[in-house]
This record gives sequence, C-alpha cells and structure tokens, in this order.
Amino acid sequence: MNSVLEINSSLKSLVHEFETRMDQASSLRDLEEARVAFLGRKGKLAKIMSAIPGLDSSERPLAGKTANQVKTELTRLLEDKKNELERLAAFRLDPRFDPSLPGRIPDMGSIHPVTRVIQDICSIFTGLGFDIVTGPEVETDFYNFEALNLPPGHPARDMQDTLYITESLVLRTHTSPMQIRTMEKRTPPVAAIAPGKVYRRDSDLTHTPMFHQIEGFLVDEQVSMADLRGTLTAFAQRIFDPGVKVRFRPSFFPFTEPSAEVDISCVMCEGRGRHRDDISCRVCKETGWVEVLGCGMIDPEVFLQVGYDPEKYTGFAFGLGVERVAMLKYGINDLRMFFENDLKFLNQFA
Ligand code: PHE
Repeated sequence: MNSVLEINSSLKSLVHEFETRMDQASSLRDLEEARVAFLGRKGKLAKIMSAIPGLDSSERPLAGKTANQVKTELTRLLEDKKNELERLAAFRLDPRFDPSLPGRIPDMGSIHPVTRVIQDICSIFTGLGFDIVTGPEVETDFYNFEALNLPPGHPARDMQDTLYITESLVLRTHTSPMQIRTMEKRTPPVAAIAPGKVYRRDSDLTHTPMFHQIEGFLVDEQVSMADLRGTLTAFAQRIFDPGVKVRFRPSFFPFTEPSAEVDISCVMCEGRGRHRDDISCRVCKETGWVEVLGCGMIDPEVFLQVGYDPEKYTGFAFGLGVERVAMLKYGINDLRMFFENDLKFLNQFA
C-alpha cells in the first residue's frame, strides 16, 4: 500500500464494511467486538493508517486528514447504534422489533344512532331556548300517572303496559312525569325538554320493553296551539328535511286538551305512498304519512297539581319516540338493530 489513492479507497470500503457490521449488530457485545476490530490499536483502521508514514511527504497530510475523518465517522456510527440498542432495551423490545412497520389502527368507537338523534334533537330545542332536564327512571305512581290526570283504573295504567316495582313504584312508561317534576320546581315562563329511557311491557317486532322518549313543554301566558304547531313544524323540518310536511290529527291524552298526534310526510317515499319504481312504501303503509309524536295543550288539571294558575297560564307539551325518529332519519327498518349492538351496523355511524 503506497499511494494516497489506494489508502483513500481502502478507507472508503472500511466505512461501508463498518456500516454493514452496525446494521447486523444486535447487542452491546457485538458493538464492542466491532469497535476492537475496526478502531482498536491493532484494528483495521490502524492497519490502514500504518501505511501513511511510507507515503511521499506531499501526500501524507491529505491521507492523514481523510483517515481522521473516517475515524470520526466510525465513532459516530458506533455511538448511534449504541443509543439505538439502549433505547430498545429500555423499552424491553425485542431487537428484531421493526419500528418501520405501520402502526395498528385502534378501533374508534362511534356514537350510537339513538344517542346521536337525542343529541341532535336536544340541540335543536336548546337553540329555540328550551332547557334540558332529566329525572328518575324508577318513578312513583303519582308522577307517572296521578299528577298527569291518569286516575286509577285508566287503561294506560293497566298491568299489560306498566312494569311495576311495587304497588306505588313503576318503571316510568313515558317521560311526561318530567313535566310535573319540572313545573313543581319552576315558575312560568318554563320551556324544557326531557330526554330519557322509558319502559313498557311490550315486546315484538315493533316494540321493545325499553325505548327512548323526549318530552318537551312550554308554559307561559297566552301560549296557543299555534305556538305548538309552529314549534313542532320548525323542529320536524330541522331534524328531517326542510321540505317535510307536518300534519296534526286529533287524539286523546289525559294530560292534554286538546290533544293531537303529529305525522310527518313519509321520508322514505317523500309522501307519495309508493317509491319511484312504483313499489309500495312499507314504512308509511302507502299512506304517505308516519306518526312521530303525541302532543297537546297542557290540561288545566295538570296545572292545578303543580300549583300554576290555569286562568293565567297556558302551555303545550309533546312526547316523541327517539327510535322512531332515528329509523326514519337513517332509513333503518328494524327496531332490533338499535339493541343488538352489531358492530357492522354501529360502525356505519362513525
Ligand atoms: N306521554 C305520551 C306517550 O307516551 C306522549 C305525550 C307527551 C302526549 C306529551 C302529549 C303530551 O305516548
């Protein structure tokens, strides 16, 4: 070895050889062996450098400088690899662990469609100035029935529908007791909605023993049926579609007078009763309308129960079925979907 060119090329391949060695090293012991073999007193670098004094004096400074750079480079490579191995050891990871593999994507939960509809409805009504109130699912006979003008013997109190805990405690059959609980605590003007679970002894294709309702009510001076209509129409157009039509049908509830059931134009067939391909619409049973809620003007009897003056105040109330709204909004045709917690179904709401 007697020319600067030869020395330079040996140094270059030494660096490559050392890099390969570092790639393969998997322990601190491997590193120490490599250090001795390459950088040690009798190592490969020292051997190449021993040829420098034999060079022409004009070539020595350049060869010496290159050799020193290589030494620095090898030391740095060794140090880097040592840091890497120590880091892996600190995490107790197998040195064969490949940090370049793509990470596992964690399952991101999704909001249940029922929860989502409750949130949507609540935000529409809070936007209209209503408060959100909640109350117990285990309810007394008084709040669930008596105070709502449902006297003993009324068909809605029948054992068929109500799940009794004791003779005077029930699982609430509707969210209407929240009308009483809220009015007892506040003086008009009052505007609130009460979302929550309700229970009935009912279980078939279109009924589950537990489902969700949202109660809404507003009491003030001079509240009229027109206010009820306006509020519910605005609501229906926001939750479904600005073009949806709303229809009020006379009905009966013991705690409202007059009472109505509210239908919206069927969102599946756009109120035509038949789909575009002329197949009949099963959701509205070809009527073009689907029922979404019950409502009415709060009965003066109810006001007397909570100490409001029925001569001074009027108000409206409504109760809607959340699953019903969710089915229409998302085109879900089977109520059981909401309760089976099938991930293939739920993930569609992510
Ligand atoms: N509570 C009634 C039901 O469960 C709905 C309703 C609420 C009707 C408020 C009128 C006023 O069916």
